[in-house]
Amino acid sequence: MSEKKGKEEKTKKGFGNLSRRDFLKDAGLVIGGTTVGSMAFTSGAQAQHKSEADKTSETLAQCSEDTITIELTVNGGKYRLRVEPNWSLRQLLRDETGLTSPKDWCGGVGACGSCTVIMNGRPVLSCLTLACECDGAVIETAEGIAKEKHPIIDSYIKWNAFQCGYCTPGFVTSAKALLDRNPDPTEADVRDALGGNLCRCGTYQQHPKAVLEAAQVLKGAKS
Ligand code: FES
Ligand code: FES
Repeated sequence: MSEKKGKEEKTKKGFGNLSRRDFLKDAGLVIGGTTVGSMAFTSGAQAQHKSEADKTSETLAQCSEDTITIELTVNGGKYRLRVEPNWSLRQLLRDETGLTSPKDWCGGVGACGSCTVIMNGRPVLSCLTLACECDGAVIETAEGIAKEKHPIIDSYIKWNAFQCGYCTPGFVTSAKALLDRNPDPTEADVRDALGGNLCRCGTYQQHPKAVLEAAQVLKGAKS
């Protein structure tokens, strides 16, 4: 065997034998290197980059185990679940907790917003969130929003802000997250907050009306 051929075979064999854990460890090194490489600005930015790099390393270390057990709160209920490192949060919610409101329209590439859930107060795409990153997280899905009888549900019904309803859980969670952080949004705020959600039935005109009315109902309930 020639030296060149021997080298090629060794390289191929090396990749073939690479375990998921080794791969993630290597990926962590690459990501860490990239982050450190971008630390060329102010000291504040450096500190922020460093803490993000630390967080990324922690996440990758956690996600590099074959399976791990995480604890999280979903719609007020406590869960302790074993997760595979390649599971998405969407998969975890649908398959392990039976909450099927996070949908998949775009094939899980972060393009449609139909899988949106609220995680620690912020709307996130559950198809692009690794389940192993969610230890200790507080998650809210459309089921939880309906269960707490949030006015956004009635206003969506009143304004016919859906047709087939497939995209609706994603819109409702994005809208609820907006109202949690901004109880008095403008129409532009609503359009901005829902900008990542797509609807193939084309109900876009109705969403701002529904969300603005829910804001009014919430304000009335508080006054
Ligand atoms: S399934 Fe489309 S953004 Fe998540
Ligand atoms: S209501 Fe059908 S996809 Fe939005």
